[in-house]
Amino acid sequence: MTIAPQDFFPHLADWVANLDDVFPGKQIKPWFAQWEVGHIVSLILLGGSSILLNLRLIGVGLTEESPAEVRRNVGPWVHVGVVGVVLTGLLIGSANAERLYTSEAFSAKMVGLLAGVILTYGVSLPLAKADGRASAGMRIAGVLGLAIFALAVCMFFSAKLANPGLWHVLTAGGLIVLYATRGRIRWIYLGVMLALIAAQQVMTHIVVKADDYEHLDPVNKTFAFVFLGVIAAGAAAQIVASNRGQGGSAFAKGMAYAGILVWVMTAAAGRWLAFA
Ligand code: HEM
Repeated sequence: MTIAPQDFFPHLADWVANLDDVFPGKQIKPWFAQWEVGHIVSLILLGGSSILLNLRLIGVGLTEESPAEVRRNVGPWVHVGVVGVVLTGLLIGSANAERLYTSEAFSAKMVGLLAGVILTYGVSLPLAKADGRASAGMRIAGVLGLAIFALAVCMFFSAKLANPGLWHVLTAGGLIVLYATRGRIRWIYLGVMLALIAAQQVMTHIVVKADDYEHLDPVNKTFAFVFLGVIAAGAAAQIVASNRGQGGSAFAKGMAYAGILVWVMTAAAGRWLAFA
């Protein structure tokens, strides 16, 4: 079974096929590239503002300002980014609807978008406004957002040809943890990551030949899970160590990591629409 929108909504096929012949798809089509630039610029605003906000909740980045102050400054740009990326997405989507309708990556992207909205508006923004103190409502939104985020990742993972896009998410997670850790934890984490990168290169270029896809696939998937474990362990060590120092709840920090990565995953699924 595949998970493209056409598998869930087969009765919409005729409507989708007609979308680029009517307003607004028809008008957007000749200007597709320009509107796609608008999509990317909105994504840059969303990604940049969300990273600044969530890094502050993790306890790094703009630490001279309180989380509430950072939220006051970057909050409006989060809204502009979310509205911009959805609006331009709908417009370019109407001009290219059949590609989206048959794309498994697009299903993962839409579920990722839902998780991103819940984690941003239900957790990151209100959490920063309250200077990191979580209410019951934020905890409920956090659990719900994480569950939907996990579903989106599983969908992306099952999208054949697009699932290598999950390496973007691992790379982003790996770099954020490297930036957030300090002292001995950072050096140990960096050492383990470099050893893993070297081991993966040896396995996928020397032990298994670079064109032997049948054997490369399981090797790369195994490495992906090992990287995930090391990144999660690095993040957990950072949360425990920083809680001993400057305070801020483990919930706020864990959610802030998810608040960044959910948008990276959604964007990666967007980029990999081209493949599946
Ligand atoms: C209703 C929401 C959205 C719709 C309908 C939508 C639709 C689209 C479409 C039609 C494309 C062009 C695909 C192609 O022809 O290859 C695209 C690309 C893309 N989208 Fe979205 N999108 C939406 C939301 C988002 C969000 C929330 C993000 C990021 C967080 C995002 C990130 C991207 C990226 C990174 C690309 C690739 C651009 C490129 O390679 O030039 N999109 N999207």
